[in-house]
Amino acid sequence: MKRLVAMPQVLWFLLASTLAISHLAVATPVPSPTLGSRCPKMCGDVEVPYPFGIGADCARPGYDYFRVDCNHSFNPPRPYTGSLEIISISLDAGEVRVAAPVSYICYTSSNTFQSSQGFVWKVNAPYLISTARNFFTVIGCNTLAYLQGRDDWSYYTGCITSCENLEEAARNGEECTGLGCCQTLISRNLSTIGVNWNNGTRSINPAWSYSPCSYAILAEKGRYKFNPRDLVRDENDSFASWVAKEKIPMVLDWAIRGNGSCRPPAKDAGPSAKLTAPDCVSEHSFCVNATQGSGYLCNCSEGYRGNPYTIGGCTNINECQEYDNPCHSSSTCHDTLGDYKCKCKFGLKGDGKSDNGCQPIFPPWAIAIIATFAIVVVACFVIMDVKRRKQRRFFDKNGGEILKSMGINIFTEQQLKKITNSYKETIGEGAFGKVYIGTIDEGTQRVAVKRASVKGEALPQEEFVNEITFQFRISHANLVRLVGCCLETDVPMLVFEFISKGSLFNVLHGADDQEALRLLERVDIAIGSAEALAYMHSHGGHNHVHGDIKSGNILLSDDLTPKVSDFGSSKLVSVASMYSKWCVSGDMSYIDPVYIKSGRFTEKSDVYSFGVVLLELITRKKAKYGDNSLPLDFVKCCKEEGNGRKLYDRDILSDDDAQAHRHMECLDRIGALAVRCLKEDVDERPTMAEVLDELKQVKAIASGGSSGSVAS
Ligand SMILES: *[C@@H]1O[C@H](CO)[C@@H](O)[C@H](O)[C@H]1NC(C)=O
Ligand SMILES: *[C@@H]1O[C@H](CO)[C@@H](O)[C@H](O)[C@H]1NC(C)=O
Ligand SMILES: *[C@@H]1O[C@H](CO)[C@@H](O)[C@H](O)[C@H]1NC(C)=O
Ligand SMILES: *[C@@H]1O[C@H](CO)[C@@H](O)[C@H](O)[C@H]1NC(C)=O
Ligand SMILES: *[C@@H]1O[C@H](CO)[C@@H](O)[C@H](O)[C@H]1NC(C)=O
Ligand SMILES: *[C@@H]1O[C@H](CO)[C@@H](O)[C@H](O)[C@H]1NC(C)=O
Ligand SMILES: *[C@@H]1O[C@H](CO)[C@@H](O)[C@H](O)[C@H]1NC(C)=O
Repeated sequence: MKRLVAMPQVLWFLLASTLAISHLAVATPVPSPTLGSRCPKMCGDVEVPYPFGIGADCARPGYDYFRVDCNHSFNPPRPYTGSLEIISISLDAGEVRVAAPVSYICYTSSNTFQSSQGFVWKVNAPYLISTARNFFTVIGCNTLAYLQGRDDWSYYTGCITSCENLEEAARNGEECTGLGCCQTLISRNLSTIGVNWNNGTRSINPAWSYSPCSYAILAEKGRYKFNPRDLVRDENDSFASWVAKEKIPMVLDWAIRGNGSCRPPAKDAGPSAKLTAPDCVSEHSFCVNATQGSGYLCNCSEGYRGNPYTIGGCTNINECQEYDNPCHSSSTCHDTLGDYKCKCKFGLKGDGKSDNGCQPIFPPWAIAIIATFAIVVVACFVIMDVKRRKQRRFFDKNGGEILKSMGINIFTEQQLKKITNSYKETIGEGAFGKVYIGTIDEGTQRVAVKRASVKGEALPQEEFVNEITFQFRISHANLVRLVGCCLETDVPMLVFEFISKGSLFNVLHGADDQEALRLLERVDIAIGSAEALAYMHSHGGHNHVHGDIKSGNILLSDDLTPKVSDFGSSKLVSVASMYSKWCVSGDMSYIDPVYIKSGRFTEKSDVYSFGVVLLELITRKKAKYGDNSLPLDFVKCCKEEGNGRKLYDRDILSDDDAQAHRHMECLDRIGALAVRCLKEDVDERPTMAEVLDELKQVKAIASGGSSGSVAS
């Protein structure tokens, strides 16, 4: 610093010579942004966009300084504006980079030097030297450089750098802080600058021996990095030639100047309209004030890019392709004019542009509920379908088609449910299952619906169909008529006519206040039942037996006509389950001991059971009363006393002596017949037809006529 003070004060001159950019404003030609494609877009490696142009015809008319001269004596060619070589042109930023000129002073002794003093240059409209983007940089030891500006040179700045030896200078890449290198900012609104050294004849440079040359450059910030080598470059490899080779840029701000600034948008242009200017001719463009100085720049609207100074110059940016995944991963990108959308993926809502991305439309619990609901619905359909198929299968299995073709009423499970009013009233329970009352033909006809409660082994289809067909075809006044059936269940349901007075069992053993049946009525009941069984045995072939004869299965209509029910039903359930049912229900008393021993059920087994019913009729005792078995007691009594009179029902013996005698004879004969029916040797048992004959004779006696033959 001492040395600097000691230095003679600087005096310096401006040289008239200017390396200036020519400026020539031509009055008001209309801008014509669509210049022919004949205008080259490039000069060498540099793109030259409108309003700049290569040659006067291609640049924006009115201002010559947009003209770019392409010097083809270089390879590649170089664009020039005036004497400055253009490195790049930016429309967006409103900047032009030019090769920065270098000033120097080189000492050949401590007080002799040669310099580029008076190196002055002037940029003209539309350019101004960028304040923000440039540094004035000075390199040297024992150096003071001035930057002077404005047309009247009223602006000064400068900086000092010193180093007593090269080792003291800053290291490679270090900031310029005055050790071999210094930097300073310049002011705004500068178009003319000059660089001066404190040469002066009285100035002595003690550093000339180790650092003979000093340099000054105005260059883009960050572009120049200090290197101590720059202090010692020799003339063959001077700093100035290095800078020219490296093309260290200086930044100039440009603008459309001299024709006003941005204007407010037209009144009818809508609320989002932006400032306009005559030169901003492209759609989707707007006007911005110049970075410094007067005038304006044009810019494309957000989402557009291109040249706002030409018609149609601003084009849409396809953000989806351009940017790497602008949308959150939960959405897909869709480009729109000037923008893009992030559409949420299926089931999501919200904004795919936001950091959080899209959120599910339905919270997880809602999805769970919906999913559960859907599953339940589907499951219901599946279950219904399976059920329908199952019903169909049963129907087919049970020969539904064959039966239908024969005109048998086939009810659906649904219909039966309706008929029985959802199986509301039970009227009986047997080996076959439960019996429910119902009505068909719109309530006019009452029916009994038998529904199996035991799931037996299903009969082979053919046998089953035969059985139903047999029951349907067989028609006898003393047989309960089969009305129809339902085949949709595993074991079919059968629909019979309804018999009003209930079973013989109930009439005989029911409430005490019930009026006892008279003998003749009992004989008629026996005859009717026997007729039905005889008819069945003779019409159905050998395998058609009733199988479950008991007083409970002989139903009585209002006029006491017996109707045998449940015939063949036993065949519809397996013998095993039927047997077990008997055991359980205590109907063992009716079953033929021979069957139990042999397992063979024949007509004679029915005869045995009918014998027990006959005993019930004459004794009005249950087949099993107390601990006693009626058939065993009666047979024993007959053996011991010759008859079973001890057991007869007192209520049917008449008071009239003559009648009482006849009645006793009848009872004796029926008793004897019953004993025959109960014989252990099946061959000794009478057939049903014989039983019927005998009963008819008994009736003749009972009704007053004489019997043809006297039974034993
Ligand atoms: C040095 O500065 C003086 C004025 O101070 C000037 O007359 C002279 O021409 C300058 N020398 C050179 C070589 O520029
Ligand atoms: C200045 O703008 C007006 C429109 O506002 C235009 O007519 C005129 O040609 C422009 N002048 C120049 C030199 O571009
Ligand atoms: C091109 O550059 C060379 C070398 O600097 C120069 O001699 C010549 O005059 C220039 N040509 C034009 C047309 O400016
Ligand atoms: C023009 O727009 C671009 C992109 O939006 C922006 O980077 C640039 O700074 C804008 N230029 C001016 C002069 O406002
Ligand atoms: C900018 O500089 C020019 C000439 O150098 C001058 O006429 C003008 O008034 C200056 N403008 C500002 C805002 O300083
Ligand atoms: C510079 O180059 C010339 C010829 O190319 C040569 O004669 C001279 O010695 C060189 N100077 C230095 C300092 O290397
Ligand atoms: C643009 O510049 C003009 C004149 O210099 C000024 O009136 C206007 O307010 C500026 N607009 C903006 C947005 O800076």
